[in-house]
Amino acid sequence: MIVACGGIKGGVGKTTIAVHLAVLAAMAGREVLLIDGDSQGSASDFTAIRREALGGDAGYSNVQLFGAAIRAEGMRLAPKYDEIVIDVAGRDSAGQRAAIAIADVVILPFLPGSFDVWGLERTVDLIEEARAYNDHLRTVALLNRADPSDRDNLAAIHTVDGVGDIHVLRARLGNRKAFRSSTGQGLIVTETKPRDDKAIAEIKLLFSEIFPDLCTAESGLSSLG
Ligand SMILES: Nc1ncnc2c1ncn2[C@@H]1O[C@H](COP(=O)(O)OP(=O)(O)OP(=O)(O)O)[C@@H](O)[C@H]1O
Ligand SMILES: [Mg+2]
Repeated sequence: MIVACGGIKGGVGKTTIAVHLAVLAAMAGREVLLIDGDSQGSASDFTAIRREALGGDAGYSNVQLFGAAIRAEGMRLAPKYDEIVIDVAGRDSAGQRAAIAIADVVILPFLPGSFDVWGLERTVDLIEEARAYNDHLRTVALLNRADPSDRDNLAAIHTVDGVGDIHVLRARLGNRKAFRSSTGQGLIVTETKPRDDKAIAEIKLLFSEIFPDLCTAESGLSSLG
């Protein structure tokens, strides 16, 4: 399956979500490719730090591809991997289009707050364009950095849910230090101490909504959290 963490809005959590999903899929025993589609190279930096932290092997493969190459190379590489996760650059619309063209699922993170919801509307135009040649595309939105008080969360969810055919996931990620500090160490929240059980439960629910087939007892992920 090809999962793209996309959306034209910057700083909403695309990289954080992409690296968590890639590591969790690898932990479930899948052969995973993480495509870094951003010239900032955050997903590649994460992978380099992770290799260092784990003594050489991140547990998945990582390449950096930009613009239309995400589609061409992504299609060439797809048969070699069980799962591909693409971290898309917010401002690279060619890359955004290319990722959406080959994705099975696009995850659009959004934050509580109307400004971020605006970016989503423009993203939906790109998705509608892609539907002409990618009719199995599933588009889901994820509330990231959710507020402890629910008012802003619900307002944002309400707005996003009405846009295009976007389905807002049940999972949401709270605004938690664990997400920041773990990725800074090349790790994900299930791997860092002190353990943040809420963050682990949130990421586990997200993973189960994106990769339901990988959350079996055999994968070992069912015992996470
Ligand atoms: N749930 C969260 N809780 C706390 N901090 C978070 C959370 N999600 C992301 N962050 C932090 O917010 C910042 C932006 O996140 P991230 O880099 O994942 O977003 P992005 O969409 O990839 O940004 P860019 O557009 O720059 O690529 C980072 O410092 C990250 O650690
Ligand atoms: Mg990023």
